[in-house]
Amino acid sequence: MTLTAGISEATSAAKAADRAALSGSVHNFRNLNGHDLIHRLDDFYRWQDLRRALGLWPFGRSTEAGPRRHATVHDDSGRKMAGANFGSQDYLSLSGHPEIKAAARAAIDEYGVHSAGSPALVGNTSVSLTLERRIAEFLDAEFVSLFPTGWSAGYGVVKGLVRPSDHIVMDRLSHACLQEGAAAATRNIHLFAHNDLTDLRAKLEAIRSADSDHGIMVVTETLFSMNSDTPEIAKMQELANEFRATLVVDVAHDLGSMGPGGQGHLGIQGMIGKVDLVMGSFSKTFASNGGFVATKHRKVTEYLRYFASPHTFSNALSPLQAAVVLKAFEIVASPEGDELRQKSMANILQLRARLVDAGFEVYGDPSPIVCVKMGTEDVARLVSRQLHASGLVANLVEYPAVAKGQARFRLQVMANHTEHDVMCAVDKIADGYRDACIELAELI
Ligand SMILES: Cc1ncc(COP(=O)(O)O)c(C=O)c1O
Repeated sequence: MTLTAGISEATSAAKAADRAALSGSVHNFRNLNGHDLIHRLDDFYRWQDLRRALGLWPFGRSTEAGPRRHATVHDDSGRKMAGANFGSQDYLSLSGHPEIKAAARAAIDEYGVHSAGSPALVGNTSVSLTLERRIAEFLDAEFVSLFPTGWSAGYGVVKGLVRPSDHIVMDRLSHACLQEGAAAATRNIHLFAHNDLTDLRAKLEAIRSADSDHGIMVVTETLFSMNSDTPEIAKMQELANEFRATLVVDVAHDLGSMGPGGQGHLGIQGMIGKVDLVMGSFSKTFASNGGFVATKHRKVTEYLRYFASPHTFSNALSPLQAAVVLKAFEIVASPEGDELRQKSMANILQLRARLVDAGFEVYGDPSPIVCVKMGTEDVARLVSRQLHASGLVANLVEYPAVAKGQARFRLQVMANHTEHDVMCAVDKIADGYRDACIELAELI
């Protein structure tokens, strides 16, 4: 073989590898066949590892020093980069706030670091009970159950209250915790078109015309995390009342980070204290892991304590986490909270405007989640490699987390991002997209 023939063979092999890594999705590996539960993962791992080897697997990354606005990040092969961080969820930048750190230190001194039990036994502490009361007051809800994560709160409220003969009517883009709770609770799951009240009504009418005996849970979110959009919550609650259903809203992304006093879209829409069940997470704005379910009825919290498995059979929030979240609620509701939300919104509006000026489509409405469309998965993966090289931390979201051909970067804005960070992010995405298109054209 001549040198030129060898080189061209190597080039076409490299191109074939690139093409393989740019196609397919994790969805291809959802249904597995074969008797050996471990060996049947081979095809998945081969495909994933090819992407990893080529720098096209932007998941499973870690920061060196926590979720700062500038972060040093390692991909899961250890390749290091440093740059502006739009990939962490710390919307009001509270995770490094001096008062939050002081609250954490004081909690360690007072309580140690561990709750050492489920809330159904003796896992609660005086600080977690104070937190329950604080959230109840914040949401005008009266009673609150805490969960070890937001995920488990979503799963727990659905699985805890719904039985196999009941129905769940759920926005089709609801978070995995709600969908998995639903799948574990009943086979009667009815997905309605995203934020579509007409479809919701049609689903409720169809269910009630055939079944007047069983319960119906209607499930939605106040801010959808891949689309940055919001339903009309009052109309959903009215529909739920009309059809004798119970509404659950997940406020994970907007509680604390948006709305008057940090009350999120419930506050913006005048719905504080008016929704049947509110479920949320501390992991986006409140500087900790953990979640909650809030209700007007003590019987709900009492029942969930013994029938929502992640509350009953999982260790309670640590006193350290509870103290951090308590302090975060104090800041969220203070004038400083207003100032942080204003800074965050200024960054959000600037980021969205600059991305549009650069020719990109940005999803939904202004919120700390700014999703910018890339389109097909191949170009989006190439952009993700460019961003890792150029120094921008941004999370790629691709099918099946979003529809095929609608891959996007989900930029999560923090209050302490600067105008310079925003400009850098837009420049890097624009350059990355241009270079990715050239690269892709060469591969075809
Ligand atoms: C809408 C929504 N609900 C619930 C969760 C789960 O929250 P956590 O990450 O705190 O467990 C998330 C986080 O990804 C989310 O986006």
